[in-house]
Amino acid sequence: MAGKHDCGLRLADVTPKAQYFDRRRIMAGVAGLAAAGLAGGPMRAIAGIAAIPSPYSTDEKPNPKQDIESYNNFYEFGTGKSDPAKYAGGLTTHPWSVKIDGLVERPGDYDLDDLLKGMQMEERIYRLRCVEAWSMVVPWAGFELRRLLERVGVRSGAKYVAFETLLRPSQMPGQKTRILEWPYREGLRLDEAMHPLTILATGIYGEPLAPQCGAPIRLVVPWKYGFKSIKSIVRMTLTDKQPVTTWNQAAPGEYGFYANVNPEVDHPRWSQATERRIGDGFFARRRPTLPFNGYAEEVAHLYKGMDLKKYF
Ligand code: MTE
Repeated sequence: MAGKHDCGLRLADVTPKAQYFDRRRIMAGVAGLAAAGLAGGPMRAIAGIAAIPSPYSTDEKPNPKQDIESYNNFYEFGTGKSDPAKYAGGLTTHPWSVKIDGLVERPGDYDLDDLLKGMQMEERIYRLRCVEAWSMVVPWAGFELRRLLERVGVRSGAKYVAFETLLRPSQMPGQKTRILEWPYREGLRLDEAMHPLTILATGIYGEPLAPQCGAPIRLVVPWKYGFKSIKSIVRMTLTDKQPVTTWNQAAPGEYGFYANVNPEVDHPRWSQATERRIGDGFFARRRPTLPFNGYAEEVAHLYKGMDLKKYF
């Protein structure tokens, strides 16, 4: 499944426990900017989604779109890196509804177009570090998850946010297999979800997400291993209990709930000390893995006093 230089999220040892251009969405983004008084300001209207630049972006060079859309993990479409690009094209991503429930003031089934109305879209150029020890730099277009949580109103007692991917085996052939328990699930502690680095992305390079990248809306948590960044989200639940998450459920000794990028905590089957940047070339040196994927200054305080070897 994985390329021969990847360690691979392998389940052999754990089983059986194992677009179009949406004008309305763009207009919603533009309306958001106008409301924020930014339309004539520093806005960078990249190819489609009107997104303003962000101080949170890295100045590292983003990978070409071609890399980002052809080397993917999206097990709903197969376990090979090129499977998602091959098989995700038939996924219907519009209309799209997101259920928001649990400990919220205004639960409901929200139409994505409505959810995006008035949302300030930003370009966030982030490093993405997969637990398999490869990395990329991706110019996302999206908005802070906390903005959405503020809009629906988090009730007291909520401590976590649980996320679910679409379950539609007719269009997601991987879901006809039992390699993972479907739907794919992820979760964050509420303070992680409210952190300004945590975004919901709807685009890459200013264009709507390709299906293989998690269209029409996915999570991006740049200081955590990529498996936390759940794709094609249809449900978010505010809860007081730590949610069950797919990879942790499949192999708890290998994939923790926290999954913060950490060069000092190796995966049981490979080192996390270094990583291979996609596009670096066959003979390039591996790069050192950065604590919290380089975002330690922003997020290390969230884990003060926690034993990160235990809560990996
Ligand atoms: N979300 C779903 N629903 N299914 C998946 O298989 N794979 C995860 C994450 N989100 C995955 C998912 C993993 S392991 C990684 S590294 C990233 O998506 C990859 O994102 P990319 O393909 O956009 O690089």
